[in-house]
Amino acid sequence: MTIYVNQETKEFHLCNNNVSYIFRVLEKSNQLEHLYYGKKLTHRDSFTHLIEREIRPSCNLFEHDHTSSLEHIKQEYPSFGTTDYRQPAHMITDKIGSTITNFQYKDYKLLKGKPVLDNLPAVYTEQAEEADTLEITLTDEVLRATLVLSYTIFCDRNVICRNARFINESDSAFFLDNAMSASVDLPDDQFEMIHLAGAWAREAHMEVQPLTKGIQSVYSSRGASSHAHNPFLALRRYNGTEHTGEVYGFSLVYSGNFLAQAEVDTYGVSRVMMGINPFQFSWKLKPGEVFQTPECIMVYTHEGLNGMSQTFHELYRERLARGYWRDRARPILINNWEATYFNFDEEKILSIAETAQNLGIELFVLDDGWFGNRNDDTSSLGDWFANEGKLPNGIKGLAEKINKIGMKFGLWFEPEMVCKDTALFKEHPDWIIATPNRMPSHGRNQFILDFSRKEVVEHIFQLMDNIIEDSNISYIKWDMNRYMTETYSSSLPIDQQGELSHRYILGVYSLYEKLLAKYPEMLFESCAGGGARFDPGMLYYAPQAWASDNTDAVERLKIQYGTSLVYPLSSIGSHVSTVPNHQVERITPMETRANVAYFGTFGYELDITKLTKEEQEKVMLQTAFMKEHRDFIQKGTFYRLLSPFDSNEVSWMVVARDKKKALVGYYKVLAKPNERYNRIKLTGLDPDKLYAIEGKDTKHYGDELMNIGILLSEDYTDRASEYWQRERAGDYSSRLFILTEA
Ligand code: DGJ
Repeated sequence: MTIYVNQETKEFHLCNNNVSYIFRVLEKSNQLEHLYYGKKLTHRDSFTHLIEREIRPSCNLFEHDHTSSLEHIKQEYPSFGTTDYRQPAHMITDKIGSTITNFQYKDYKLLKGKPVLDNLPAVYTEQAEEADTLEITLTDEVLRATLVLSYTIFCDRNVICRNARFINESDSAFFLDNAMSASVDLPDDQFEMIHLAGAWAREAHMEVQPLTKGIQSVYSSRGASSHAHNPFLALRRYNGTEHTGEVYGFSLVYSGNFLAQAEVDTYGVSRVMMGINPFQFSWKLKPGEVFQTPECIMVYTHEGLNGMSQTFHELYRERLARGYWRDRARPILINNWEATYFNFDEEKILSIAETAQNLGIELFVLDDGWFGNRNDDTSSLGDWFANEGKLPNGIKGLAEKINKIGMKFGLWFEPEMVCKDTALFKEHPDWIIATPNRMPSHGRNQFILDFSRKEVVEHIFQLMDNIIEDSNISYIKWDMNRYMTETYSSSLPIDQQGELSHRYILGVYSLYEKLLAKYPEMLFESCAGGGARFDPGMLYYAPQAWASDNTDAVERLKIQYGTSLVYPLSSIGSHVSTVPNHQVERITPMETRANVAYFGTFGYELDITKLTKEEQEKVMLQTAFMKEHRDFIQKGTFYRLLSPFDSNEVSWMVVARDKKKALVGYYKVLAKPNERYNRIKLTGLDPDKLYAIEGKDTKHYGDELMNIGILLSEDYTDRASEYWQRERAGDYSSRLFILTEA
């Protein structure tokens, strides 16, 4: 049993071997009071001794009861305006214009496993025994509305999933202006807040800041989860590290506008909430209708940030990603974007593919520029038919030739967009997101199609399907290169315009769903100008995502380190590109570029025909290496060891599930002269196993490697050399250590 219910005292205790989450129903007001979230507690019949009250000068719910202020009671899903002045988890405007709600406990339901969420991506169970779900039903008698709060606890994972569902039981509509997925009132504020921030080409940079009084939040109002922030937030105890200390992690399974917020009140209570961004959101809930929020995944660990990340990784790899590709090793691909940009023809593509195949690459991906009249980024999105000037045999002919070489074929689409010069735009100018009588702003010379409309989604499905059905396509890179502006739909009534952003993302999900239903073996890689939609929502459909348009190995250390806070290596699209690097002009050794890209899905993004013979031989060795190790790299346990945000040296490692193998990446950004002795302490190994380190003569026990570390001093094969004669690695060097049980 993982959920205990005390029916008499109306207390609920969700727990597994590591985590407890406890709340109860308030006797007088029938609202929900939060009691505890953290390390597992032994179950007791009652936890009422955990109730915390203080008499304070405040507004109270009840006469002569000076402890009934909701402002001073930790809650589960707070409302605003009835004695609590902090940010609420929900806000409803009813038919008389009031925003007061009072959802009171009615009953509960226990379910084995985890119910699916209608039309939304969500974590799932395969066997009912994997998790238990508690649904709490609350009603507001004045509004005549029902609120169902859902809590799923996994038996063997430190995970609690939450979502909320509103049902209008009345005979008039009301407006849902805010509907968070989860809210938790933690009793103190002794935390650092950690989140991922960035921009195009520098996504997922880790930010750490002390939690302070007031509101601190990250959010998106751009129509996509965005480059700027990720739908993720963690609270870590001061002095916590990658390996130690309490961490609460929150991640939203959603790809649109989100809010992730911590509010510290004047008494030090930290209210964390996460959900659809209420800014510009308003959903008209008509009589009998239901509104389902996306789900929030909450992770608690006392094993530091790595503990949190590993929990997210396993959950997202095993119970968010789905279908054919979930457990399969990902193909090594070559993408022609940085090789040719828009300037290619069939001959060029085939020459790249042939060379790539000879060097062990398995999948060729044709990027932007294959359709309509697209020779730069000013035209043709929406004309989803092959540019016969470049590809005289069409996509079908090209795919056949690539297949004949012995490679799989993949294709780039940007399904949600349209350019002005296309048949699609000319026939349906009202299908774009734009506000009547106002100029639509530009973004990469393209407009966003109104995916809130079913007919638009259906039309794009047909266009894509014409190509896919006709040709042998195994992989689709689904790109999205601009944010939403003038957010307005000509198909929605005036009082439902606030629904557009959410309806849009539901439309995106529905197109993915349709394509996957017809092509279940298609491997999707999501992309949004790099990592602007690297979020759990996308991972439900596309098990891998292009982490950034920045392919420089040094920049990638930060991007991939940050991304790994939440997302598994099997999801992180990472490629070896050319030098000087196209984003920063840096020249890094080819080994370093590969040593970074191995910790992801791995591929190439360069004109492989232009590599020297020596470089091509390196590619051959790299693809052979990745084929040998990718299964455990993509499914193993990943540990961050040294952070690029703190130091010149960076390290991470992945350990096979059976601990018989491990791969350690060590990177030194700038070379230093005559340095101190140095070691990297490993982790996650079996202390009693003896490990051989490829390329080193010595063998080491797991406990030695974890307590002493790998000695980084060079091996003295050239003992006789003078300091000045020695070969030195130079800037941007890296080393890879492959450990195997001896
Ligand atoms: C942005 C993507 O991130 C790139 O990889 C590439 O596909 C371009 N779009 C193509 O326009």
